[in-house]
Amino acid sequence: MRASHVKQKRILLIISGGIAAYKCLDLIRRMREAGASVRAVMTKAATEFITPLSVGALTSERVFTSLFDLNDEQEIGHIRLSREADLLIVAPATADLIAKMASGHADDLASTVLLATDKPVLVAPAMNPRMWMHPATQRNVAQLRADGLHFVGPNTGEMAERDEAGPGRLAEVPEIIAAATSILAERARGAIAHLHARPLQGRHVLVTSGPTHEPIDPVRYIANRSSGKQGHAIARAAVALGARVTLVSGPVSITDPPGVDVVRVETAKEMLAAVEKNLPADIAIFAAAVADWRSASAAQQKLKKSGDKPSLDLIENPDILATVGKLRTGRPRLVIGFAAETSSVASEAARKLKSKGADWIVANDVSPDRGVFGGDGNTVHLVTAQGTEDWPTLSKDEVARRLLQRAAEHLSSGAAAAE
Ligand code: PMT
Repeated sequence: MRASHVKQKRILLIISGGIAAYKCLDLIRRMREAGASVRAVMTKAATEFITPLSVGALTSERVFTSLFDLNDEQEIGHIRLSREADLLIVAPATADLIAKMASGHADDLASTVLLATDKPVLVAPAMNPRMWMHPATQRNVAQLRADGLHFVGPNTGEMAERDEAGPGRLAEVPEIIAAATSILAERARGAIAHLHARPLQGRHVLVTSGPTHEPIDPVRYIANRSSGKQGHAIARAAVALGARVTLVSGPVSITDPPGVDVVRVETAKEMLAAVEKNLPADIAIFAAAVADWRSASAAQQKLKKSGDKPSLDLIENPDILATVGKLRTGRPRLVIGFAAETSSVASEAARKLKSKGADWIVANDVSPDRGVFGGDGNTVHLVTAQGTEDWPTLSKDEVARRLLQRAAEHLSSGAAAAE
């Protein structure tokens, strides 16, 4: 990602009240070094941690703190403040500010500016691990992601409180700048249009996610390491772009994305039936790690250890992607598969593109050292009939966002209809 994407960009930094607020001083310095101009809004609580004077000295701009400052409203109203930026960064974002944003409150300058903006917003949360993991915070974060906001961090580590560790540390300054740069680069490419743009409005997107469980007997099953994070992120990204989304999910322990019709299944056969039942769709994306085989005859009773050593007779499961990719009638206009490989990633993906009748394949290397299964990041390659594009390492949310943005562009360009 090139620094030029930050150069001459106007960043509106919203600082809320957390112990990590002091790191904003370095963030401002580094962004200005990269050529950005930075304006800052501070919540009342933020001013308890760092002074507007030190923030103003580093931004070389007046610092905005109050919604009811008549001078501010006359010279530069809160609407202008939010619209005149290329990117809003909320750092640190406290649990309280995240809750306000998720429910659309506007009772101080920071929350009002965030509600009034139509520009991309990057949120860098920082809070106590228990607060971060609380279902209320996780619900609010899921809502904001579905609304199209970007997140960086929080990181896991030691907290300011003694003996406290876990997820909740503000992302490091270079990580925040890298995330901001990536958003600005995508925006320059036209891939992130308007915060509230809905290019998939009126479209139906069908997504598969998670593993399948194939029973051996009533208590044992064949499974894999998929967590559903990538597939669920795709469903969230599709909702954020205005689509009606059906998510057919294998057994996972992550929360359902808001605004999505979730169909829960266990086995590959059930997943295929649910997919077929929920067609037609404009776009179908197959991120599930479907078990290729199942037991030929799952036992009705628990297999006894004392009995004969059981042997597992495996038969092939139906291929859901190939079934949909090769439909003669009712085929979605864009069929996107994934390829999980541990070697020859690009060539295997190109083979699957053809053999499964997909339009695009998102290939990822799932070797254990990559941490893709269950992790939050992914390094993917987009394989199409035109060739292979290597994407940088991104969060699964960002992979999903880019993929859906590309899919929306593809549909609106009419390319899918012409193929
Ligand atoms: O869930 P996470 O922990 O976030 O991990 C994400 C992921 C690694 C599961 C995801 O990024 C991914 O790669 N998903 C596809 C996994 C897979 O099964 O890949 P495959 O190369 O074996 O299959 C190729 C394609 O065919 C996939 O789109 C798969 O969904 C589909 N398939 C495979 C077998 C089958 N019987 N039916 C299918 O539809």
